[in-house]
Amino acid sequence: MAKFKLTRYRIQTGDGPGRPLQPFSAILLSDLHNAVFGEANCALLQAIRSEKPEAIFAAGDMLTSTQVPQMDAALALMEELTKQYPVYYVEGNHEYKVRHFAEIYGAEAGADGVRYFEELERFGVHLLKNSCERTEIQGMPITVWGLELPWQCYRRFQRNELTVSQVRELLGEPEKERYNILLAHNPVYFETYAAWGADLTLAGHLHGGAVRLPFFGGVITPQFQLFPRYDRGVFERCGKQMVVSAGLGCHSIPLRVNNPPELVVLNVM
Ligand SMILES: [Fe+2]
Repeated sequence: MAKFKLTRYRIQTGDGPGRPLQPFSAILLSDLHNAVFGEANCALLQAIRSEKPEAIFAAGDMLTSTQVPQMDAALALMEELTKQYPVYYVEGNHEYKVRHFAEIYGAEAGADGVRYFEELERFGVHLLKNSCERTEIQGMPITVWGLELPWQCYRRFQRNELTVSQVRELLGEPEKERYNILLAHNPVYFETYAAWGADLTLAGHLHGGAVRLPFFGGVITPQFQLFPRYDRGVFERCGKQMVVSAGLGCHSIPLRVNNPPELVVLNVM
């Protein structure tokens, strides 16, 4: 059976409206790429349930966008999770491609793409498409945002800028009196997310840098950039935080060295 490790991060929300009355747990899922841990993902589900999370945040690439998309395990996991928890979901580059399947591969493949999102909606997943939803956990007013990044943010061999005004155009303004959690698949734009006003950004995409070296960390990104800064872990900038998951799966070249699949638990206090 494929194995994963559980990584736990303490998230200090600071003073003001962001502080919960009691600490609580939430789960960050990213880059599942349709992977399975135990029959019908029972090992993953068991690990999630044992944390008693208040919410699940899915930061994209839950499926893999091959011409016949690999999505059944991703859908089955989402269906199970939504029976117990609110699941907030933003697309990654693989969902982006699936959403545009009809243009890329024709109508038949396009129908798979349509089915994927229809199923998520049927399960009651909170799909955040450049939109937000308000919730309250342990008395803490939270606004969860989902940023659908423009395709140029995923181009290979190059890094395109993403400005605060672009994010503002897509999302509007953050809600200053609430704690703003931003789901954004690609972590390389952390400075922009923080400057926009995200108190906590949740991301993935880089798969921990595929190969992890002692002292250097992750080696390469899906866009073939070397030694990425935000490969996995917690980062802070001017009081704003970002958690980057190393992801749970692989695609194309199944390469993870010294870099096991990772389930992230957020202990928010
Ligand atoms: Fe990705």
